[in-house]
Amino acid sequence: MKASPRTPRISGNWKMNLDGRSANELVCAIRQWMEENRNKSLEVGLFPPAVYLAQVVELSKGSPIHVGAQNAYFEKSGAFTGEISLAMIRDVGATGVLIGHSERRHVFGESEEWITKKLNAALALELEATLCVGEKLEERESGRAASVIERQIRSALSQLQPESLSRVTIAYEPVWAIGTGKTASPKQADEAHQQIRQLLAKLYSPALAEKICIQYGGSVTPENAAALLAEPQVDGFLVGGASLDFAKFRKILEAV
Ligand code: PGA
Repeated sequence: MKASPRTPRISGNWKMNLDGRSANELVCAIRQWMEENRNKSLEVGLFPPAVYLAQVVELSKGSPIHVGAQNAYFEKSGAFTGEISLAMIRDVGATGVLIGHSERRHVFGESEEWITKKLNAALALELEATLCVGEKLEERESGRAASVIERQIRSALSQLQPESLSRVTIAYEPVWAIGTGKTASPKQADEAHQQIRQLLAKLYSPALAEKICIQYGGSVTPENAAALLAEPQVDGFLVGGASLDFAKFRKILEAV
């Protein structure tokens, strides 16, 4: 086992998938697995579609599963048809939220300004925020991956107080690897995570940076999980497709 001050965290981002019944079955199976593997040092997070948040919270009660929303709007309330607030997420008992997932950035056109506002609003309500960052294929191919990641992090954290940093998880998710079956190599992931941790050390302090969980996301499967996790800077995963199938998700949990 690698020596790390950080507890590995594996999260499932269900995106716009599953229905009420399959969500129930999946949570119950994960819960049972966690009860049987209580001695493992591991955190599990689930990000169901918003309409299933309350039921996933209910089914996870008393278990170590963290439940969060995939997105929320930063305003407190008002005429924002179709949106949900961060306070609503808390109200149903969820404790976290994904901020700036690449599909929010690139499919729905969320700006970096919005992502900063969402992150600050989530932390102000004491939610745990998973900030997703990552470069597109053309940005990697033209040698700009590092500068894109740095810009995204500096922008999102620009107003963050050091005392809130402990409630932030960073998910490095190269856009070219999400849902494509292409995964960053363990070395590519480790390099990006190292760069992120060095930036956090510069912006805050090396001690704070050491404690931050940096997950990798992008076509994580039972086949590639162990090699990625073996890298010193890879603290866990944000899993999309493979988190919908308990047999696959379990194997990823077992890779820890
Ligand atoms: P994927 O999605 O595992 O299906 O590539 C990851 C994500 O978008 O969080």
